[in-house]
Amino acid sequence: MTESDLRDAICAHGRLLYGRGYCVGSAGNISVRVADGYLMTPTNSCLGRLEAGRISKLDPSWRHVSGDPPSKEVFMHRAVLRSRPEAGAVVHLHSTHATAISCLVPPGDPAPPIPMLTPYFVMRVGRSLPVLPYWRPGDAAMEPAIAEAAKGARAMLLGNHGPVVSGRTLDDAVWAAEELEEAAKLALMLRGLPGLRALDAAQVDDLLRTFSA
Ligand code: 13P
Repeated sequence: MTESDLRDAICAHGRLLYGRGYCVGSAGNISVRVADGYLMTPTNSCLGRLEAGRISKLDPSWRHVSGDPPSKEVFMHRAVLRSRPEAGAVVHLHSTHATAISCLVPPGDPAPPIPMLTPYFVMRVGRSLPVLPYWRPGDAAMEPAIAEAAKGARAMLLGNHGPVVSGRTLDDAVWAAEELEEAAKLALMLRGLPGLRALDAAQVDDLLRTFSA
């Protein structure tokens, strides 16, 4: 994809995510790796109304070179893209159900915060979903912990804040963020209900073996 295609794709995904209520107001941000740096949604922009020509461009050292000023969450995106060289994009949302889980599950809890209920959650998000502590949005102090968590996980939940999800491509990252939100919704709907069945370890292994890139 050319940079121009990627700018258009960021705007299209932003519109869809906003339209589905996965981000509200000016919440959420997206970054994409390009040949000579990174594209990032501008700070205080509404993902539903992005303009391709105003998307922030950063150089390979993450210095802002053109477009509107980048998201304040540049440390979050940088941490993930540095730790996951195979990742081409990162999506951060405040989607309601994933954020609800981030307010319920204690950071560092070794139990999975969302049960493996359905195949697409396993296929897109994978087995590991760490819950990290809370940091003020834009706080550079979050970078080391996110970088460490991202080495072993495609996605994570920031405590009392929301999901951070990576993918090989922008489509992959957005689709994983959508699956994560739906899985969180199911988990909260079904929480504590008798007879609730998650996929077993063999079913999870089979999905990861068959579908993981
Ligand atoms: P930005 O507007 O700076 O991207 O911040 C929005 C956000 O989601 C903070 O976590």
